[in-house]
Amino acid sequence: MCGIIGFTGGSPALPFVLSGLRRMEYRGYDSAGVALCGGSPAKIEIRRAVGNVSALEAEVAAAPTDPAATCGIGHTRWATHGAPSVKNAHPHLSPDGRIAIVHNGIIDNYAELRDRLAAQGHVFASETDSEVIAHLVAESEAPTLAERVMWALSFVRGTYGIAVVSADDPGMIVVARKGSPIAVGTGGGASMVASDPAALAGRAESVAYLDDGDVAVLTPGAFEVRSLANTPVSRPCSPLDIDPASVEKGGYEHFMLKEIFEQPEALRNCLRGRLLPDDGTAKLSGLRLGPRDIASLSNIVVTACGTSYYAGLHGVYAFEEFAGIPARIEQAAEFRYRNPIVTPDTALVSLSQSGETADTLAAVREAKRKGALVLSVCNAVGSTIAREAGRGVYLHAGPEIGVASTKAFVCQVAALSMMALLFGRTRRLSGTEGRAFVKALASAPDLVAAVLARNDEIARIAEKHAAVRDAFYIGRGYQHPAALEGALKLKEISYVHAEGYHAAELKHGPIALLDENVPVVALVPQGPDRDKMLGNVQECRARKAPVIAIATEGDADVRSFTEDVIEVPPCPDFVAAIPVVVAEQLFAYHVARLRGEPIDRPRNLAKSVTVE
Ligand code: F6R
Repeated sequence: MCGIIGFTGGSPALPFVLSGLRRMEYRGYDSAGVALCGGSPAKIEIRRAVGNVSALEAEVAAAPTDPAATCGIGHTRWATHGAPSVKNAHPHLSPDGRIAIVHNGIIDNYAELRDRLAAQGHVFASETDSEVIAHLVAESEAPTLAERVMWALSFVRGTYGIAVVSADDPGMIVVARKGSPIAVGTGGGASMVASDPAALAGRAESVAYLDDGDVAVLTPGAFEVRSLANTPVSRPCSPLDIDPASVEKGGYEHFMLKEIFEQPEALRNCLRGRLLPDDGTAKLSGLRLGPRDIASLSNIVVTACGTSYYAGLHGVYAFEEFAGIPARIEQAAEFRYRNPIVTPDTALVSLSQSGETADTLAAVREAKRKGALVLSVCNAVGSTIAREAGRGVYLHAGPEIGVASTKAFVCQVAALSMMALLFGRTRRLSGTEGRAFVKALASAPDLVAAVLARNDEIARIAEKHAAVRDAFYIGRGYQHPAALEGALKLKEISYVHAEGYHAAELKHGPIALLDENVPVVALVPQGPDRDKMLGNVQECRARKAPVIAIATEGDADVRSFTEDVIEVPPCPDFVAAIPVVVAEQLFAYHVARLRGEPIDRPRNLAKSVTVE
């Protein structure tokens, strides 16, 4: 949520900052701004605009900043305090205009700080919580910018990732982190900062991730990290392993479509080297669990938000079915408030594509406090949840830029399936059962490729239903989480009201809403639930609801009652959710495209929800 970028080097900063903002637009896009520090004597120039980064580029073109400025920071905003407007857009300035800050996160005690500063004569230009930071830094009489920032932060309660520049320290950027990610890097004689390392791909040769309580001082080509108490801190630097092409659209109309089509490759990367066909098990070294650790687990709690939650529900079914370990899912936002029962033999599996979701992170911390074995399943390497959990599985799906999660979901399902296999083979699955599992899971990339080959067909079905106002998605067993995920995909990118239900739940209330204008997407691939699903579909048809079926290739029974069938190849039901969800993603994508919606940046949403 919100993006921070910064550059200080021997070349103009503005092009870097603007292109970094473009790469991070998916984190927030209701307004954007830059602050450039340069000139002689040095001064700060800010430009801000409502809307996306193109609006900011137009603003900069209309009122150019000093093109030679070699130090700058930028921000793309997802509004929390104060509506999207120029005055609320970051950067924010100190009263004398000599300090500029950008901020991600929420300052909980901003009202109190603002009142105190106002009583001293400070006048605020925005409605944001962030502006108090610029005013506080300006109040400090400490000798260095870093110390002034540390002093200011000593009054702040809440979460922040900040970058600060001062006209009195040209060429320097001070950054700090508490609860909102910050990566710093160097390359080509410059130093740079971003809230998302993907923005540094192809630019930073190496990066370091700040921990909470770190303050870093960036000068051209170097940075040093200190604690808030101003003692030196060492943070490991590593090469940035993100392909710059993965953060570009590569000829696709939308990132979401590109990421949908990347799924066979993402799954291959996720499964590579981890499935052991001969032993019929999985190798997941990052879990650092031996057979005795696995044997002593008494229960599993999976926790996550949104799409990751639905992948987690799939995992719960798999843990119980294949590993025989009692498992349940907890909404991450509830975890620390509900005070759930966690024991030392509980494994808490936290799922997060970004690894930065505030509620999931809070659940991880609470579970650690309670002594659970915490395992993470994250996509973003080096993300806070992955680092704090200390053990886990990376998805290796590559950066996901489209706000609607796609390739992360299928890889989460694959990663959880591998965990269920490993736990199952340690506890109760035979070698034969394990080998059959490996074979089925290893086919996932090909199953997805087969669905992608039907893209045109799916687009035609979407065309018939593009004007719909409401829709239901129904499934049973592993297709239940898939139904929830399909409905979420449709609603978030096309703004069609869609509800996912367990198929059996329909007649306990929602069936009252069905009529000829409310299509039902029925997930009916082969498997133990197919026949019962067909019964549920008949109930929908009896209410005249149009049915769109996602079914196994050649299922004549399904064809007999609807022509809108999206076929997936035959496979066991626990794997079928993967191609079924890909079919749902394409359906949602085409409905949104036909309705002309901004698919990669749906209104009100942002990638990586770093506020509670
Ligand atoms: C929906 C979507 C969100 C995220 C949720 C959790 O398409 O992307 O529902 O799944 O915000 O995000 P992560 O997985 O980053 O914790």
